[in-house]
Amino acid sequence: MSDKKAQLVLDGREKPIDLPVYEGSTGPSVIDVRSLVSEGVFTYDPGFVSTAACDSNITYIDGNAGILLHRGYPIEQLAEKSSFLEVSYLLLNGDLPSPQELASFEEKIRYHTMVDEQIHEFFKGFPRTAHPMAMLSAVVGGLSAFYHDDLDIDNADHRMQAAIRLIAKMPTLAAMCYKHGIGQPFIYPQNKMSLAENFVNMLFGTPCEETTVSPVIAKAVDTLFLLHADHEQNASTSTVRLAGSTGSNPYACLASGIAALWGPAHGGANEAVLDMLSKIGDESRIDEFLLKAKDKNDPFRLMGFGHRVYKNYDPRATVIRGICAEVLDELGVDNDPLFKIARKLEKLALEDDYFNERKLFPNVDFYSGIILKAMGIPTSLFTVIFATGRTPGWIAHWNEMLSNPYKIGRPRQLYKGETKRDYPA
Ligand code: ACO
Repeated sequence: MSDKKAQLVLDGREKPIDLPVYEGSTGPSVIDVRSLVSEGVFTYDPGFVSTAACDSNITYIDGNAGILLHRGYPIEQLAEKSSFLEVSYLLLNGDLPSPQELASFEEKIRYHTMVDEQIHEFFKGFPRTAHPMAMLSAVVGGLSAFYHDDLDIDNADHRMQAAIRLIAKMPTLAAMCYKHGIGQPFIYPQNKMSLAENFVNMLFGTPCEETTVSPVIAKAVDTLFLLHADHEQNASTSTVRLAGSTGSNPYACLASGIAALWGPAHGGANEAVLDMLSKIGDESRIDEFLLKAKDKNDPFRLMGFGHRVYKNYDPRATVIRGICAEVLDELGVDNDPLFKIARKLEKLALEDDYFNERKLFPNVDFYSGIILKAMGIPTSLFTVIFATGRTPGWIAHWNEMLSNPYKIGRPRQLYKGETKRDYPA
């Protein structure tokens, strides 16, 4: 801790209030405002744009420079040299695993991919038309019914066991959401397959015939999961932390994170990108939609553009852009009209002053939606795939919080309602 201080001068108060300033290992310093409550004032920061709600050692983002580090390692290097499960280990444990540690972690994940048969019954209660995120949040929350009484959240081994179960079961549950919607039998995970191969097989396999998973597609899915594995204190991760701060069951906390991820301003953006491309419908209408996005009287925004934190190119978008080209090539769908619209829209928006001045670049969701669509995955499943990738990040943050002293999350407010008044006699 440094001796740096900030001083708050309040009108009508004789003395300024001294507030300690703390430095992180990199990035902005923070002003500790915790003492303000005893001075009778709160800070005001709707949307938490300038508020650090916790200490964390997991992920660092410099949005202006377009930098994303997990435990210090740049995302570009991890995407090139690592795998989703290795990054999951890294997020949870702080360092990269040795080859033996990685093999043991992968083995544990493989062993936990099946879900209790009773979970199959949950799905029978859902209409076939249910949104996959509705089913996913319900069944992940439902896991807390299976893993509760014996789970001691103050025990580090128990927390790691919950992390392994969640990372392992999420692809299985995500695929079940898809299979239920199309009325096909669930496909059990196969221990001979990697996590990504298994996921593709559980999505597209049937009991009638063997499926083969193309290595290009398996690698693309693994990298998609890896790129989504963590992103610091985003809305869904903060939701998991907030729910966890009350001592809740981790599976229930993850369900709350899934709910937060669902919205189009967060994980639902890749689904919204494809809906938008379909609405545009033809390259000749791109200009019309760009005008709509720039019109302040029109609520329409260009989906897949802009980011709360990145005011530069999202480094994940650079990686995923390359994968997108590989996947379209492998699947031979390069000439699909929707993908042509996407390419032209990207080009025109990047050349447009409105988007440049506001530093609005294509985000990771712009490309992930296109890749998933090319793979034949329905748009309503996109956010479920994001949730599957984000699981190690959510659980790593939950674990980090519980491994240290923590307080229940409880924001304050600026009250603007009626003051005390009497009920009519
Ligand atoms: N299309 C058109 N204009 C936009 C867009 C967009 N996609 N995004 C931001 N702007 C404009 C705003 O209208 C504002 O303009 P102004 O300064 O003239 O008023 C300016 O850019 C700054 O935007 P903010 O709303 O202040 O940016 P904020 O950080 O609050 O929003 C957000 C970020 C929610 C991601 C926004 O860019 C957006 O809605 N994007 C589309 C949805 C999307 O792709 N979400 C995915 C996010 S990534 C993720 O969750 C993994």
